[in-house]
Amino acid sequence: MKKQTQSKILALLVAFLAGSLTLIAALFMVMPRQVTQPSSVGGPFTLTDQNGKSVTDASFKGEPFLVFFGFTHCPDVCPTTLYEMSEVLNRLGPDANKTAALFVTVDPERDTPEKMKQYISSFHPRIFGLTGTDAQIEAIKREYRVFAKKVPTKDGDYTMDHTAVVYLMDKDGRFIAPFNLSRSADEAAADLRKRL
Ligand code: NI
Repeated sequence: MKKQTQSKILALLVAFLAGSLTLIAALFMVMPRQVTQPSSVGGPFTLTDQNGKSVTDASFKGEPFLVFFGFTHCPDVCPTTLYEMSEVLNRLGPDANKTAALFVTVDPERDTPEKMKQYISSFHPRIFGLTGTDAQIEAIKREYRVFAKKVPTKDGDYTMDHTAVVYLMDKDGRFIAPFNLSRSADEAAADLRKRL
């Protein structure tokens, strides 16, 4: 091979590699973080349960758990989701004690521990109602990438728009996947049972 041909090939190779690297770098920049780093959803938290007791992420370590954000004044999505979660937990029978579902309020202003206790008493006992200070709620919302916004109503009151994903977390508190409640309670319970 002539020296000139060799250097041409080398130049082409360098150009190709540089192009590939630029493309890869560009792809990393446009890809949402959730896709590349699923474990970055979730994290440590300190909140107050429905009995006024302080709980942290460590309180639920060692068991897979579900997390759902909402508020007690929610007219439809929250009660429906909590009802569906209860049905799934009912299907687990005594094994429900090996898991938990955390209902975290996005409306700490109105959702006191007393209010949460009263509200979740209609649902499965493995559903915990968690509230906290504004700062504590903001912190867990950030970690779970939850969107929530106050929306004023005509009567001078307000409602909340909020993310309605049910998060399935593993025994170490790491995010596995969104938990699908649109299938039958039996199917969802079988899926959850596999993680116990
Ligand atoms: Ni809701």
